[in-house]
Amino acid sequence: MSERLEDIAAAMVADGKGILAADESSGTIKKRFDVIGVESTADSRRDYRELLFRSADAMRNHISGVILYDETIRQKAVDGTPLVELIRAAGAIPGIKVDAGAKPLVNYPGDTITEGLDGLRERLAEYYKLGARFAKWRAVIDIDTASNVPSAAAINANTHALARYAALCQEAGIVPIVEPEVLMDGSHDIDTCFEVTKATLIKLYDALYEARVNLEGSILKPNMVIAGKKSGTKNSPEEVAEKTIRVFRQTVPTAVPGIAFLSGGQSDEEATANLNAINAIGPHPWKLTFSYGRALQAAPQKAWSGKGENVAAAQAAFAHRARMNGLAALGTWKSEFETAA
Ligand code: 13P
Repeated sequence: MSERLEDIAAAMVADGKGILAADESSGTIKKRFDVIGVESTADSRRDYRELLFRSADAMRNHISGVILYDETIRQKAVDGTPLVELIRAAGAIPGIKVDAGAKPLVNYPGDTITEGLDGLRERLAEYYKLGARFAKWRAVIDIDTASNVPSAAAINANTHALARYAALCQEAGIVPIVEPEVLMDGSHDIDTCFEVTKATLIKLYDALYEARVNLEGSILKPNMVIAGKKSGTKNSPEEVAEKTIRVFRQTVPTAVPGIAFLSGGQSDEEATANLNAINAIGPHPWKLTFSYGRALQAAPQKAWSGKGENVAAAQAAFAHRARMNGLAALGTWKSEFETAA
């Protein structure tokens, strides 16, 4: 495959395909395994991720790339094949999470800043040698209007860090996924989400221009515009789609080849229905697809539950969600396809 940043980015958002976010940190994957009663060890994490990457149908047809965690990019399958090789053999691109997580932002209670810039140039060079051709950095923007969260300072600090990360990635021959996640955990309404997302994306693209990032060789990973989970409101896919596209039209340059959403705590089917509605009101100047963690993996995790005899069922559950989201990326998904399966 071509090594040009623009070609890698285009392949990441190829028609009907999206990204599998399998980059849960050791702490996050432990939380996921706790739910299904599986002890989180290096071997159980390997077994689980190996079954995903060996899901031939899902990987070959609907997954363009896989975001890995530092441990996983170095791990080997039970038969000794590097996991990175399994991904490549399925025609997908290996990627790597490189941020060091969100920490409290000093002097701004309730805001966070994502760490991980120190030594990043050297780490990227190593990840390139290990096979990564794209990377991810997640900034976390919470909403709590009563406490003046997010502050302008938090948005500035986080978008500046994203821009420095993105420029270093491109220097290393790696496509940056820039992820400014406006959380959907709060009690805010959809219009507040719209305003905070807009303010964040304006600052993000300012910072990317200033850092001289090649936008054609980058991918945006945003939240959808949606009411907070604690608001008690469930927006229709049509409203989410209309407001999500409106905010991008106001802020995201058309030089950006693709936008790959996070699922952020939406249910599996909600994440699919919303992505589908977004594409159904196209055409749009960017590809719009998925880069889901939970919305792709909750079903296979439950089906697997740590048992070898459940591997085929888990792979079938993963293949189903991957296919549903692949259709949603084309705007051709229908809710009947869920029940038919
Ligand atoms: P979710 O789809 O579970 O939000 O995870 C995607 C991701 O990679 C967040 O950084």
